[in-house]
Amino acid sequence: MTKEEILRELQIRNLPNIPEKASWQETRAWILSLFQQEEYGWMPDVPVEVSGQILAEDERPACGNAVYQKIAFTMRWAGGEHTFPIYLVLPKEKAKATFLHIAFPLHDPVHTMPYEEMAERGFAIAAVEYVDITSDDGDFDNGLAGAWYQGRQRGPEDPGKIALWAWALTKVIDYLETLPLINTEIIAVVGHSRLGKTALFTGLMDERIALTISNDSGCSGASLNHGKQVGETIEVITRVFPYWFNEKYLSYSNHEEEMTWDQHFLLAGIAPRRVYVASAAEDSWADPLSEQTAAEAAREVFAKLGLPRSFIGSHVRPGGHALARQDWLHYMDYIEKYMLDSEKRG
Ligand code: GCU
Repeated sequence: MTKEEILRELQIRNLPNIPEKASWQETRAWILSLFQQEEYGWMPDVPVEVSGQILAEDERPACGNAVYQKIAFTMRWAGGEHTFPIYLVLPKEKAKATFLHIAFPLHDPVHTMPYEEMAERGFAIAAVEYVDITSDDGDFDNGLAGAWYQGRQRGPEDPGKIALWAWALTKVIDYLETLPLINTEIIAVVGHSRLGKTALFTGLMDERIALTISNDSGCSGASLNHGKQVGETIEVITRVFPYWFNEKYLSYSNHEEEMTWDQHFLLAGIAPRRVYVASAAEDSWADPLSEQTAAEAAREVFAKLGLPRSFIGSHVRPGGHALARQDWLHYMDYIEKYMLDSEKRG
């Protein structure tokens, strides 16, 4: 798709504007509340202690002698705790940047992570298989959901599964901050599809994340609801996956055009930190044109804050719905080009 097509979409979609507050800080706080209140649910707000125990460790000669570790990670708060694995790949020297990957099961060949290449290029990886946090279904009695709700009935604004996955990721960052070989100045959170939605919400919530990467996140991720012509709608997603969201979001089903907000608010709300919106040309369910139009709408907000276009990176690669090697290469290139060499920032 061309830039002209995206700009034309932006004109015809008639998107709502973000209401301006006295300062960007206030606007951002308003956006944060909006997405917790109306879509994903309020992220639990309790003090959490984190710890990690190395379960397995070895050196990987095939990837620049990087060290691989499997960690038993525990998050603990007054009245509850949950433990799940984090998979770490640590380059020999302190990493130039760290990918925090909220991943589908890593043995699934559709969801690539070229960790050898990543480690050789000096990136650290912290990967979490999302269902280890809590299951991907309407059962709120297992994993982190079970430990948080402890059988309590979920209220209309309480967190759904996306918010719980995101909460866990923010706590994983607390732990990563304790590791000397990890670079926490440049943390890039990455997720694909439902986990792209999760990555976006995590990036909105946690200001320690320097780059938020949405890979084919689609409906209720980077895609817009206003002017929807193709792909998934709020009606479909809240019927098939109601447990990803809070109950409030279900009321927007078939009322998209009346909404006073849309998903570009989420991308914009991450400013002044960076965002990357990746799409796949044949991924019509996620609606690549809509994802890229949302990125363009958010760029307008970034521009008002004096941030250059490149603060929202993007690509549309050929092919279908997947987190492919090509996507990872784009992410590494972007970080190297715009975030590592201070003279080239901008
Ligand atoms: C379904 C769902 C999408 C989601 C995708 C995925 O297709 O409708 O919203 O992004 O699964 O996570 O792969």
